[in-house]
Amino acid sequence: MEDCDLTVRIGRMNLKNPVVVSSGTFGFGEEFEDFFDLSRLGAIIPKGISLKPMAGNPPPRIFETEGGILNSIGLQNPGFREFIKSKLPYYKNLKTHLIINFFGNTQKEYVELARRFDDVAGISGLEMNISCPNVKRGGIVFGTDPQMAYRLVQAVRKATALTLIVKLSPNVTDIALMAKSVEEGGADAVSLVNTFRAMAVNIHTKKPELGNTIGGLSGPAIKPIALRMVWEVGQAVNIPIIGMGGIMNATDAIEFILVGASAIQIGTANLINPKTGIEVIHGIKKYLAQNKIDRIQKLVGTFG
Ligand SMILES: Cc1cc2nc3c(=O)[nH]c(=O)nc-3n(C[C@H](O)[C@H](O)[C@H](O)COP(=O)(O)O)c2cc1C
Repeated sequence: MEDCDLTVRIGRMNLKNPVVVSSGTFGFGEEFEDFFDLSRLGAIIPKGISLKPMAGNPPPRIFETEGGILNSIGLQNPGFREFIKSKLPYYKNLKTHLIINFFGNTQKEYVELARRFDDVAGISGLEMNISCPNVKRGGIVFGTDPQMAYRLVQAVRKATALTLIVKLSPNVTDIALMAKSVEEGGADAVSLVNTFRAMAVNIHTKKPELGNTIGGLSGPAIKPIALRMVWEVGQAVNIPIIGMGGIMNATDAIEFILVGASAIQIGTANLINPKTGIEVIHGIKKYLAQNKIDRIQKLVGTFG
């Protein structure tokens, strides 16, 4: 079982295994170090970073729904400067890849952040969250307009030599079209899906359950839709896909790999069982051994 080759190539990164923890669900990593050795993960993606610090949305910010959670954190984060000063040093002793999730409100902000991270030692890749409204274009979300996404990725590509992963929003009619646009713009990989726009109502107060009314749905409730989207994107692009959306165990992870994901991310599951990442690595190894597959890469996209 130890002989299985779990390594995965994403852009310029060689991950030791395909299991990555997703942005916003693993804090800055430190919070999880008592549960397992974080160096065993394929990569860590901390909470999304913007140029300036952000306070986030009014509470309540999390609401449990059937089979999932709604969150409206509002991308709260310490901002670039503070992240580099107080959070980055922690990763120096970890023997895994650090992928930075980042976002902006204008193309200029995205480019500026990519340029700044490009100069920082210890970062393997960038995951660009394009589920943010463009303030200059009347709030149209970058990730829902293929032309805008193409131009954004093209501009960011020029600003960094780091592996560039574009994280796609599922709140679109045709996710394959979005994936093709960002591939043409120069992305090394796509990751999908981010959360689905959703809400919950309290019948007693007749008010929303979230302070921001609308939030993002994640967890097992979204898995079948996320799986469909990864499969569709797999047929449309030639760059690697990092799949996510409701992965709770190794079986879920293998489903995503079969439909075309080269790697996967664990999100909401971290909040329920902090050891999910390590358990998924073990489960994948076991599946490969049982099926006499010596390399994980042989499994990718073999569905159908
Ligand atoms: C509390 C919370 C915070 C999140 N914050 C971010 C974020 O800062 N940037 C981002 O790109 N995605 C963020 N996400 C989305 C997750 O990374 C992931 O794409 C999504 O939750 C779907 O995967 P899951 O069903 O396994 O959780 C967040 C999700 C949750 C639940």
